Amino acid sequence: MEVALRANRSFLFMRRTPCLLLGTCLWLVMGILADAAGNSSSNSSSLPSLSRPSAVTIGSLFTQDSVIGRAARPAIKAAIDDVNKDSSILAGTELKLLEYDTNCSGFLGTVEALQLMENDVVVAIGPQSSGIAHVISHVVNELHVPLLSFGATDPNLSPLQYPYFIRTTQSDSFQMYAIADLVEHYEWREVVAIFVDDDYGRGGVSVLGDALANKRSKISYKAPFTPGASESAIKELLVGVNNLESRVYVVHVNPDTGLQIFSIANSLGMMAGSYVWIATDWLPSALDLSDTVDTERMNLLQGVIALRHYTPDSSTKKSFLSRWKSLKSETTATPNSYALYAYDSVWLAARALDTFLSEGGNISFSDDAKLVGLNRSALSFSTLRVFDGGTRLLQLLLTTNFTGLSGEIQFNPERDLIHPALDVLNIGGTGSRRIGYWSNYSGLSVVPPETLYDKPPNRSASSQTLYSAIWPGEMTLKPRGWVFPNNGKPLQIVVPNRVSYKQFVAKDKNPPGVKGFCIDIFEAALTLLPYPVPHVYILLGDGKSNPTYNDLVYAVAEEKFDAAVGDIAIVTNRTKVVDFTQPYMESGLLVVVPVKKEKSSPWAFLKPFSLPMWCVTGAFFLSVGAVVWILEHRLNPEFRGSPRQQLITVFWLVCLIHLKREHCEHLGTVGVDHMALRGTDNQLKLHG
Ligand SMILES: *[C@@H]1O[C@H](CO)[C@@H](O)[C@H](O)[C@H]1NC(C)=O
Ligand SMILES: *[C@@H]1O[C@H](CO)[C@@H](O)[C@H](O)[C@H]1NC(C)=O
Ligand SMILES: *[C@@H]1O[C@H](CO)[C@@H](O)[C@H](O)[C@H]1NC(C)=O
Ligand SMILES: *[C@@H]1O[C@H](CO)[C@@H](O)[C@H](O)[C@H]1NC(C)=O
Repeated sequence: MEVALRANRSFLFMRRTPCLLLGTCLWLVMGILADAAGNSSSNSSSLPSLSRPSAVTIGSLFTQDSVIGRAARPAIKAAIDDVNKDSSILAGTELKLLEYDTNCSGFLGTVEALQLMENDVVVAIGPQSSGIAHVISHVVNELHVPLLSFGATDPNLSPLQYPYFIRTTQSDSFQMYAIADLVEHYEWREVVAIFVDDDYGRGGVSVLGDALANKRSKISYKAPFTPGASESAIKELLVGVNNLESRVYVVHVNPDTGLQIFSIANSLGMMAGSYVWIATDWLPSALDLSDTVDTERMNLLQGVIALRHYTPDSSTKKSFLSRWKSLKSETTATPNSYALYAYDSVWLAARALDTFLSEGGNISFSDDAKLVGLNRSALSFSTLRVFDGGTRLLQLLLTTNFTGLSGEIQFNPERDLIHPALDVLNIGGTGSRRIGYWSNYSGLSVVPPETLYDKPPNRSASSQTLYSAIWPGEMTLKPRGWVFPNNGKPLQIVVPNRVSYKQFVAKDKNPPGVKGFCIDIFEAALTLLPYPVPHVYILLGDGKSNPTYNDLVYAVAEEKFDAAVGDIAIVTNRTKVVDFTQPYMESGLLVVVPVKKEKSSPWAFLKPFSLPMWCVTGAFFLSVGAVVWILEHRLNPEFRGSPRQQLITVFWLVCLIHLKREHCEHLGTVGVDHMALRGTDNQLKLHG
């Protein structure tokens, strides 16, 4: 970029000051020379280099002042140091890092990413944000620079659309399938998704919807908020969500701002008993990295279930954890999973580059024909150059496998890291307790996933186990996951205060205040439900005469009460305003109607047709006869002779014609039916 800008400027100066032009040219030449010396990754495609370059440059692209960035930065630096110290990898070649800060902004991030690409990097570690990944992936596709993203987890970043995007962490789709398994395990049916309305949030939640649909559950409400929403906006959102029936909340937000949701929820009394909060891995990532245990904050989070990327315990991971303190001198925090993935990404790049160079690959760049023509703007896009060996390096990156800090680094044909797995955490006290694991291989388990990989996958309901959790409000009983719509208040059940037939239902001195057959049935039905249903009975009627049952039904229809129990007859106009249960009692009532005896008459056979109908039939009979007689009279000897003879012939003929026609009509109908059937068949075939 520097060189190009200077070159542009020199043209501007040309006309006026030739001596300045000379100076600028000299400067330009020196600049190019210095550039070539300092940066071995400059254009050397014409000469096949037999020796390895003394240095290769990779870039990093993330927001340094963010939960993920604060963890990733020391990890990437440590990895670069380790690679350079290790004589078995990239021997004789120094791995250099160029850091660019995306500063939590889609715009700045994209600009920074473009600036990074100007530096002829061979691999970029990042970006962290899914939104920037979507934009910048188009750029790297053109420049053939692989992106190793340890932080962009949006499942929509597909390898088909973005071939140079490689995700070195787990896609969020696995977390969403894990949540669906949790929802099934705890027998909930509906969840409310609270998410940040950007690529990351939307991508994750759309997979959650699919995953739940597979388990015959659903997202009953999607509650998005804009990135950087104000406290009052979030409060408004949570108040709305609190009025819903579902009490299972899935929170899929940014680690940097997510914690405030819980403090707002707490102020609304939503971190209490009967609520379920499930957080995706952003929460453990944020908690792992906090420098001190903030007891006040941990108090807010009691009972939350959270998912965390699972990384198997290994000696290398242990030694890295003990090194962590010296890497980040000012903190006591532990690295979150993104630090491990970032560390492994650098090693993955180093290993692939090592193979690339030992195959005789050249680090060379060439101008992009598409960009050269674009030089009209001052942005000088033509300084972006295509990495010639990019295609091969991409192949090597995807086929490299090794065991890193985060476990096995190897990609499957869908370009996901193999063996995605998660820890299921239950936050309590000043930390969190692991209540089990989830693996894509066999679902929920209490044993580490790698012990399951040699067994056949077992996803039967009985094999899905978790240790017990402590829920919000220090409840040990699993929350039901929903409340009655009126916010958990007892159901108001209206009961007729009968004065006759008291066996059905009547007032009672003892609690619950009513008794009778109908009440017994209702109570028995409630005990069959797997959860308690709080309810109170309210009597309707003055106790001197039976109340009007229509009033009772209309009181329910008008939502004065939640339900009515009693010997209420199911009649048409009541079913229009309320729902009835199945009848549980034969009323024994019959309708008695008078039967009128009709005198049988010999002319009863005339009844099916009305008189005009008979007349029309007769008229047809005569007209057909007349037509036949006219046509046949001259030629046919049968139609000659005495008028009586002729009349009989015509009569017979018309009878025959009628019979024949009826027969034909039958045949016709059958034929048409067949055709219809065949038509349907064809349609079926077409549709199928
Ligand atoms: C990053 O953004 C913050 C505010 O959003 C701003 O104060 C800071 O100067 C920015 N840093 C850079 C390097 O642009
Ligand atoms: C996850 O599991 C599904 C089905 O069990 C399988 O098709 C998919 O390949 C698995 N993904 C990974 C990355 O192992
Ligand atoms: C799956 O696990 C359950 C419980 O552990 C066990 O009873 C069942 O036999 C297992 N099924 C298979 C196919 O291994
Ligand atoms: C239902 O029938 C009762 C009694 O005949 C009548 O009072 C009431 O208005 C009817 N309601 C409706 C909705 O038709």
